[in-house]
Amino acid sequence: MPKLKVPSPPAPLQPKPKRPGKKTGPEGPVEHGHEATASTIGWIDERTSLSGAGRWMMFRKVPKGTNWFYTLGSATMFAFLSQAVTGVVLAMYYEPEPTRAYESIRRINNEVFLGELVHAMHKWGSTVMVILIFLHMGRTFFFGAYKYPRELNWVIGVVLLILTMTMSFTGYLLPFDQRSYWASIVGVNINGTGPLVGPYLSDFLRAGPYFGATTLSRFYAIHMMAVPGAIAALIGFHLYLVAKLGTTAPPWIRAEAPEATREEKVAA
Ligand code: HEM
Repeated sequence: MPKLKVPSPPAPLQPKPKRPGKKTGPEGPVEHGHEATASTIGWIDERTSLSGAGRWMMFRKVPKGTNWFYTLGSATMFAFLSQAVTGVVLAMYYEPEPTRAYESIRRINNEVFLGELVHAMHKWGSTVMVILIFLHMGRTFFFGAYKYPRELNWVIGVVLLILTMTMSFTGYLLPFDQRSYWASIVGVNINGTGPLVGPYLSDFLRAGPYFGATTLSRFYAIHMMAVPGAIAALIGFHLYLVAKLGTTAPPWIRAEAPEATREEKVAA
Protein backbone atom coordinates (compact mmCIF):
# COMPACT_ATOMS: atom_id res chain seq x y z
CA MET A 1 0.00 0.00 0.00
CA PRO A 2 1.69 3.30 -1.06
CA LYS A 3 2.21 5.72 1.83
CA LEU A 4 0.67 9.16 1.39
CA LYS A 5 2.56 12.17 2.69
CA VAL A 6 0.74 13.87 5.59
CA PRO A 7 -0.56 17.10 3.97
CA SER A 8 0.34 20.51 5.44
CA PRO A 9 -2.29 22.26 7.64
CA PRO A 10 -5.24 23.89 5.81
CA ALA A 11 -4.76 27.52 4.68
CA PRO A 12 -6.57 29.21 7.64
CA LEU A 13 -4.21 27.52 10.11
CA GLN A 14 -1.03 28.44 8.27
CA PRO A 15 0.90 31.55 9.37
CA LYS A 16 0.31 34.41 6.91
CA PRO A 17 3.24 36.52 5.68
CA LYS A 18 3.17 40.12 6.96
CA ARG A 19 2.04 42.82 4.49
CA PRO A 20 4.74 45.42 3.91
CA GLY A 21 4.33 48.42 6.22
CA LYS A 22 1.93 46.57 8.54
CA LYS A 23 2.51 46.57 12.31
CA THR A 24 3.46 43.22 13.81
CA GLY A 25 1.00 41.52 16.18
CA PRO A 26 -2.82 41.46 16.21
CA GLU A 27 -4.76 44.70 15.63
CA GLY A 28 -8.50 44.41 16.23
CA PRO A 29 -10.62 41.99 18.29
CA VAL A 30 -11.05 39.67 15.26
CA GLU A 31 -7.27 39.33 14.82
CA HIS A 32 -6.93 38.84 18.59
CA GLY A 33 -9.55 36.07 18.35
CA HIS A 34 -7.69 34.37 15.49
CA GLU A 35 -4.38 34.66 17.34
CA ALA A 36 -5.87 33.23 20.53
CA THR A 37 -7.36 30.25 18.66
CA ALA A 38 -4.12 29.58 16.76
CA SER A 39 -2.00 29.85 19.92
CA THR A 40 -4.38 27.57 21.90
CA ILE A 41 -4.27 24.96 19.12
CA GLY A 42 -0.49 25.41 18.93
CA TRP A 43 -0.17 25.01 22.72
CA ILE A 44 -2.15 21.73 22.68
CA ASP A 45 -0.38 20.48 19.55
CA GLU A 46 3.09 21.14 20.93
CA ARG A 47 2.26 18.89 23.87
CA THR A 48 0.27 16.17 22.09
CA SER A 49 1.30 16.27 18.37
CA LEU A 50 -2.34 15.46 17.63
CA SER A 51 -2.73 17.75 14.60
CA GLY A 52 -0.66 15.37 12.44
CA ALA A 53 -3.00 12.50 13.36
CA GLY A 54 -6.03 14.73 12.68
CA ARG A 55 -4.71 15.70 9.24
CA TRP A 56 -3.81 12.08 8.48
CA MET A 57 -7.42 11.12 9.28
CA MET A 58 -9.23 14.02 7.59
CA PHE A 59 -7.18 14.87 4.47
CA ARG A 60 -7.11 11.66 2.48
CA LYS A 61 -7.12 10.90 -1.21
CA VAL A 62 -10.35 9.27 -2.35
CA PRO A 63 -10.68 7.09 -5.45
CA LYS A 64 -12.25 8.32 -8.68
CA GLY A 65 -15.98 7.68 -8.83
CA THR A 66 -16.57 8.18 -5.08
CA ASN A 67 -20.27 9.00 -4.77
CA TRP A 68 -23.17 9.50 -2.35
CA PHE A 69 -23.21 5.79 -1.41
CA TYR A 70 -19.91 6.42 0.40
CA THR A 71 -21.72 8.67 2.90
CA LEU A 72 -23.76 5.77 4.33
CA GLY A 73 -21.01 4.82 6.83
CA SER A 74 -20.81 8.38 8.15
CA ALA A 75 -24.62 8.56 8.22
CA THR A 76 -24.66 5.40 10.38
CA MET A 77 -22.09 6.99 12.67
CA PHE A 78 -24.20 10.15 12.94
CA ALA A 79 -27.26 8.01 13.82
CA PHE A 80 -25.20 6.31 16.56
CA LEU A 81 -24.05 9.68 17.97
CA SER A 82 -27.65 10.94 17.96
CA GLN A 83 -28.73 7.77 19.81
CA ALA A 84 -25.93 8.29 22.35
CA VAL A 85 -26.88 11.94 23.05
CA THR A 86 -30.66 11.36 23.25
CA GLY A 87 -30.03 8.18 25.30
CA VAL A 88 -28.04 10.13 27.90
CA VAL A 89 -30.89 12.66 28.21
CA LEU A 90 -33.47 9.85 28.63
CA ALA A 91 -31.26 8.13 31.24
CA MET A 92 -31.52 11.27 33.39
CA TYR A 93 -35.26 10.56 33.91
CA TYR A 94 -35.70 6.84 33.25
CA GLU A 95 -36.02 4.47 36.23
CA PRO A 96 -35.09 0.84 35.48
CA GLU A 97 -37.42 -0.75 38.06
CA PRO A 98 -40.39 -2.93 37.07
CA THR A 99 -42.84 -0.87 39.12
CA ARG A 100 -41.55 2.53 37.97
CA ALA A 101 -40.16 2.09 34.43
CA TYR A 102 -43.49 2.57 32.62
CA GLU A 103 -44.42 5.53 34.83
CA SER A 104 -41.02 7.18 34.24
CA ILE A 105 -41.48 6.92 30.46
CA ARG A 106 -44.98 8.41 30.82
CA ARG A 107 -43.42 11.27 32.79
CA ILE A 108 -40.73 11.83 30.12
CA ASN A 109 -43.43 12.03 27.44
CA ASN A 110 -45.92 14.22 29.30
CA GLU A 111 -44.04 16.33 31.82
CA VAL A 112 -40.34 16.68 31.01
CA PHE A 113 -39.44 19.71 28.82
CA LEU A 114 -38.98 18.42 25.21
CA GLY A 115 -39.11 14.88 26.68
CA GLU A 116 -41.53 13.58 24.06
CA LEU A 117 -39.29 14.90 21.26
CA VAL A 118 -36.12 13.36 22.71
CA HIS A 119 -37.91 10.05 23.35
CA ALA A 120 -39.29 10.00 19.78
CA MET A 121 -35.86 10.87 18.34
CA HIS A 122 -34.35 7.94 20.26
CA LYS A 123 -37.13 5.52 19.31
CA TRP A 124 -37.23 6.38 15.58
CA GLY A 125 -33.45 6.93 15.51
CA SER A 126 -32.92 3.26 16.37
CA THR A 127 -34.89 2.24 13.26
CA VAL A 128 -32.97 4.77 11.16
CA MET A 129 -29.64 3.38 12.42
CA VAL A 130 -30.64 -0.20 11.60
CA ILE A 131 -31.74 0.80 8.06
CA LEU A 132 -28.53 2.80 7.51
CA ILE A 133 -26.22 0.06 8.77
CA PHE A 134 -27.82 -2.45 6.35
CA LEU A 135 -27.55 0.01 3.44
CA HIS A 136 -23.88 0.67 4.33
CA MET A 137 -23.21 -3.06 4.53
CA GLY A 138 -24.91 -3.50 1.14
CA ARG A 139 -22.74 -0.76 -0.36
CA THR A 140 -19.50 -2.31 0.91
CA PHE A 141 -20.67 -5.76 -0.27
CA PHE A 142 -21.69 -4.71 -3.79
CA PHE A 143 -18.53 -2.60 -4.23
CA GLY A 144 -16.38 -5.58 -3.18
CA ALA A 145 -14.93 -3.64 -0.23
CA TYR A 146 -14.83 -6.82 1.90
CA LYS A 147 -11.92 -8.20 -0.16
CA TYR A 148 -8.18 -8.00 0.57
CA PRO A 149 -6.91 -5.93 2.38
CA ARG A 150 -10.19 -4.90 4.03
CA GLU A 151 -11.40 -8.28 5.38
CA LEU A 152 -10.75 -7.27 8.99
CA ASN A 153 -12.85 -4.13 8.54
CA TRP A 154 -15.69 -6.29 7.21
CA VAL A 155 -15.40 -8.58 10.26
CA ILE A 156 -15.45 -5.56 12.59
CA GLY A 157 -18.52 -4.38 10.65
CA VAL A 158 -20.28 -7.70 11.27
CA VAL A 159 -19.61 -7.35 15.02
CA LEU A 160 -20.95 -3.76 14.84
CA LEU A 161 -24.09 -5.09 13.13
CA ILE A 162 -24.65 -7.71 15.86
CA LEU A 163 -24.08 -5.09 18.57
CA THR A 164 -26.52 -2.70 16.88
CA MET A 165 -29.19 -5.43 16.80
CA THR A 166 -28.44 -6.14 20.49
CA MET A 167 -29.09 -2.45 21.21
CA SER A 168 -32.47 -2.64 19.46
CA PHE A 169 -33.42 -5.83 21.29
CA THR A 170 -32.41 -4.68 24.79
CA GLY A 171 -33.92 -1.21 24.29
CA TYR A 172 -37.31 -2.65 23.33
CA LEU A 173 -37.96 -3.96 26.86
CA LEU A 174 -37.19 -0.68 28.63
CA PRO A 175 -40.65 1.05 28.36
CA PHE A 176 -41.94 -2.06 30.18
CA ASP A 177 -45.44 -1.97 28.72
CA GLN A 178 -47.39 -5.09 27.72
CA ARG A 179 -46.02 -5.12 24.19
CA SER A 180 -42.36 -4.74 25.15
CA TYR A 181 -42.67 -7.27 28.01
CA TRP A 182 -44.19 -10.07 25.92
CA ALA A 183 -42.10 -9.33 22.82
CA SER A 184 -38.92 -9.57 24.93
CA ILE A 185 -40.05 -12.92 26.38
CA VAL A 186 -40.54 -14.21 22.81
CA GLY A 187 -37.11 -12.81 21.79
CA VAL A 188 -35.31 -14.37 24.78
CA ASN A 189 -37.02 -17.74 24.07
CA ILE A 190 -35.91 -17.57 20.43
CA ASN A 191 -32.32 -16.95 21.65
CA GLY A 192 -32.70 -20.02 23.89
CA THR A 193 -33.29 -22.26 20.86
CA GLY A 194 -29.81 -21.50 19.45
CA PRO A 195 -27.36 -24.43 19.28
CA LEU A 196 -24.99 -25.01 22.26
CA VAL A 197 -24.88 -21.47 23.67
CA GLY A 198 -28.64 -20.77 23.25
CA PRO A 199 -29.83 -21.88 26.74
CA TYR A 200 -26.88 -20.11 28.44
CA LEU A 201 -27.57 -16.96 26.46
CA SER A 202 -31.24 -16.85 27.41
CA ASP A 203 -30.37 -17.51 31.10
CA PHE A 204 -27.84 -14.70 30.92
CA LEU A 205 -30.35 -12.30 29.35
CA ARG A 206 -33.08 -13.14 31.90
CA ALA A 207 -30.55 -12.98 34.76
CA GLY A 208 -31.84 -16.44 35.83
CA PRO A 209 -34.33 -19.09 34.69
CA TYR A 210 -37.35 -16.77 34.84
CA PHE A 211 -38.21 -13.34 33.54
CA GLY A 212 -38.10 -11.24 36.73
CA ALA A 213 -37.28 -7.91 38.29
CA THR A 214 -33.52 -8.27 37.67
CA THR A 215 -34.12 -8.94 33.96
CA LEU A 216 -34.96 -5.28 33.44
CA SER A 217 -31.75 -4.13 35.21
CA ARG A 218 -29.75 -6.56 33.10
CA PHE A 219 -31.25 -5.31 29.85
CA TYR A 220 -30.71 -1.73 30.99
CA ALA A 221 -27.02 -2.31 31.86
CA ILE A 222 -26.40 -4.02 28.51
CA HIS A 223 -28.29 -1.30 26.62
CA MET A 224 -26.83 1.64 28.52
CA MET A 225 -23.22 0.71 29.19
CA ALA A 226 -21.76 -2.53 27.84
CA VAL A 227 -22.85 -2.37 24.21
CA PRO A 228 -22.57 1.40 23.46
CA GLY A 229 -19.01 1.36 24.88
CA ALA A 230 -18.07 -1.59 22.64
CA ILE A 231 -19.72 0.08 19.60
CA ALA A 232 -17.83 3.35 20.20
CA ALA A 233 -14.49 1.52 20.51
CA LEU A 234 -15.13 -0.60 17.41
CA ILE A 235 -16.22 2.42 15.32
CA GLY A 236 -12.89 4.03 16.28
CA PHE A 237 -10.98 0.96 15.03
CA HIS A 238 -13.20 0.70 11.92
CA LEU A 239 -12.43 4.31 11.00
CA TYR A 240 -8.71 3.88 11.71
CA LEU A 241 -8.67 1.04 9.15
CA VAL A 242 -10.66 3.14 6.65
CA ALA A 243 -8.07 5.94 6.97
CA LYS A 244 -5.14 3.52 6.79
CA LEU A 245 -6.35 1.42 3.86
CA GLY A 246 -8.37 4.04 1.98
CA THR A 247 -11.74 3.31 0.41
CA THR A 248 -12.44 0.99 -2.51
CA ALA A 249 -13.12 2.48 -5.94
CA PRO A 250 -16.54 1.62 -7.40
CA PRO A 251 -16.39 -1.62 -9.43
CA TRP A 252 -17.16 0.19 -12.72
CA ILE A 253 -14.00 2.35 -12.46
CA ARG A 254 -11.12 0.78 -14.42
CA ALA A 255 -7.59 1.02 -13.04
CA GLU A 256 -5.47 3.37 -15.12
CA ALA A 257 -2.47 1.78 -16.87
CA PRO A 258 0.88 3.07 -15.59
CA GLU A 259 2.60 5.73 -17.73
CA ALA A 260 5.25 3.32 -19.14
CA THR A 261 2.64 0.78 -20.31
CA ARG A 262 0.70 3.55 -22.09
CA GLU A 263 3.82 4.74 -23.89
CA GLU A 264 4.61 1.17 -24.96
CA LYS A 265 1.07 0.86 -26.38
CA VAL A 266 1.47 4.09 -28.40
CA ALA A 267 4.90 2.99 -29.70
CA ALA A 268 3.58 -0.41 -30.81
C1 HEM B 1 -22.02 1.32 13.59
C2 HEM B 1 -21.86 0.84 12.38
C3 HEM B 1 -20.90 1.33 11.32
C4 HEM B 1 -20.32 2.55 11.16
C5 HEM B 1 -20.48 3.80 12.02
C6 HEM B 1 -19.47 2.47 9.98
C7 HEM B 1 -18.73 3.52 9.48
C8 HEM B 1 -17.98 3.46 8.30
C9 HEM B 1 -17.41 4.59 7.59
C10 HEM B 1 -17.57 6.06 8.03
C11 HEM B 1 -16.75 4.11 6.51
C12 HEM B 1 -16.00 4.93 5.43
C13 HEM B 1 -16.97 5.54 4.43
C14 HEM B 1 -17.90 4.56 3.76
O1 HEM B 1 -17.43 3.70 3.01
O2 HEM B 1 -19.12 4.65 4.02
C15 HEM B 1 -16.86 2.66 6.55
C16 HEM B 1 -16.27 1.81 5.65
C17 HEM B 1 -16.42 0.43 5.64
N1 HEM B 1 -17.31 -0.28 6.41
FE1 HEM B 1 -18.43 0.45 7.92
N2 HEM B 1 -19.54 1.19 9.48
C18 HEM B 1 -20.42 0.47 10.25
C19 HEM B 1 -20.83 -0.83 10.04
C20 HEM B 1 -20.34 -1.66 9.05
C21 HEM B 1 -20.85 -2.98 8.71
C22 HEM B 1 -22.07 -3.63 9.38
C23 HEM B 1 -20.04 -3.50 7.73
C24 HEM B 1 -20.09 -4.82 7.05
C25 HEM B 1 -20.48 -5.93 7.61
C26 HEM B 1 -19.04 -2.49 7.44
C27 HEM B 1 -18.00 -2.64 6.54
C28 HEM B 1 -17.21 -1.62 6.06
C29 HEM B 1 -16.15 -1.78 5.07
C30 HEM B 1 -15.70 -3.10 4.42
C31 HEM B 1 -15.66 -0.50 4.81
C32 HEM B 1 -14.55 -0.12 3.81
C33 HEM B 1 -15.26 0.45 2.60
C34 HEM B 1 -14.34 0.70 1.42
O3 HEM B 1 -13.14 0.40 1.49
O4 HEM B 1 -14.84 1.20 0.38
N3 HEM B 1 -19.26 -1.39 8.22
N4 HEM B 1 -17.63 2.29 7.63
